[in-house]
Amino acid sequence: MSQINPVQTAEILLMGPGPSNSMPGVLQAMSEPVLSHLDPDFLKIMDEIKEHLQYLFVTQSPHTYVVSGPGSLGMETCFVNLVESGDKIICCHNGYFGDRMHENAKRYGAEIISVTAEWGKPISLDDVENAFNTNINVKLISVVHAETSTGVKNDVEAIAKLAKKHGALIIVDAVTALGAIPLKVDEWGLDAVYSCSQKGIGSVPGMSPVTFSQAAFDKVLNRKNPVPSWFQDITVYEKYWATQTARPYHHTAPSQQYYAILAALRHIKSIGLEKIWNQHIEISAYFFQEMTSRGWKFFVEGDAKLPQLNTVLLPEGFDDASNRTKMRNEFKVEVGAGLGSMFGKLWRIGIMGGNVNKEAVDQLLKAIDNL
Ligand SMILES: Cc1ncc(COP(=O)(O)O)c(C=O)c1O
Repeated sequence: MSQINPVQTAEILLMGPGPSNSMPGVLQAMSEPVLSHLDPDFLKIMDEIKEHLQYLFVTQSPHTYVVSGPGSLGMETCFVNLVESGDKIICCHNGYFGDRMHENAKRYGAEIISVTAEWGKPISLDDVENAFNTNINVKLISVVHAETSTGVKNDVEAIAKLAKKHGALIIVDAVTALGAIPLKVDEWGLDAVYSCSQKGIGSVPGMSPVTFSQAAFDKVLNRKNPVPSWFQDITVYEKYWATQTARPYHHTAPSQQYYAILAALRHIKSIGLEKIWNQHIEISAYFFQEMTSRGWKFFVEGDAKLPQLNTVLLPEGFDDASNRTKMRNEFKVEVGAGLGSMFGKLWRIGIMGGNVNKEAVDQLLKAIDNL
């Protein structure tokens, strides 16, 4: 068969908030033949993905899988399953994605107690404790681990401890965290965690790893009403991922996406999770040092600064849009604009996935030097 208008794209170094360039082997894996969603070889691929995701989330939970959709679907899957109308929920929000979690909780009818912090600052543990102390019968708390809009890390481990102390479950957004910074689902006692395929994991966009604790799964089993979305009901979906039983059809899984995430997960496993976390710290420290020596300032400093998502403040008189366009068109490097109220004030620079190395940072720095 002759090829008609093959798709061609420029090779861009993706140093924005995601997607990042993929890990070695990912794009090749996508050119393998399509398999159907119940093919025995495909089921083996799913089993291996599950095993690697348990390694990555640092969990033994069998309620661990990918859902076929972007990080936003992972977010919605957690909320649609765990929130029932009238449930009291503490929503932590100190950025764009915390606001999105808040919006999800609202749409499923939660009674929301907001704990906010100024953009660029982490959620205060005292504020969380206070929210629990002044509200009885809180069922859930939600928080973003790595807030991509600001470059802030929230102390999920400590927030989870407060949740346990007050008998609440915790939903964690790990879209920009998973595979980049320490995240230990079982040890920290996290109940529902979702991520994406295109950042720390270094696959292509379009898949969302999720994991649920037994307590979270039991809450879904004991709902008063069925989960309003059949497609996202984890008690239905789980059967498709059950490793021991005959698996029913759930949906036509996007096989190429599965191959891609498997290739990326194998790559991570071959390097080792601790080593990957350390590489992020090392390369980000190099970037920080190079940028500050050029006079650039960072929006977040200290313990709350994420290594994988750097927010650099734009110098006085620096034209955001035209310089980003120049970076993209002349130097083939993508950086991210500020979100919401930070638009025009900062750039978001991701060092994730296949770009956690000095070569990628040097290419980025060279482009910035030539603006
Ligand atoms: C923290 C966070 N949550 C959720 C999302 C949504 O993920 P996606 O764009 O893959 O749907 C993003 C996207 O960048 C994110 O950074």
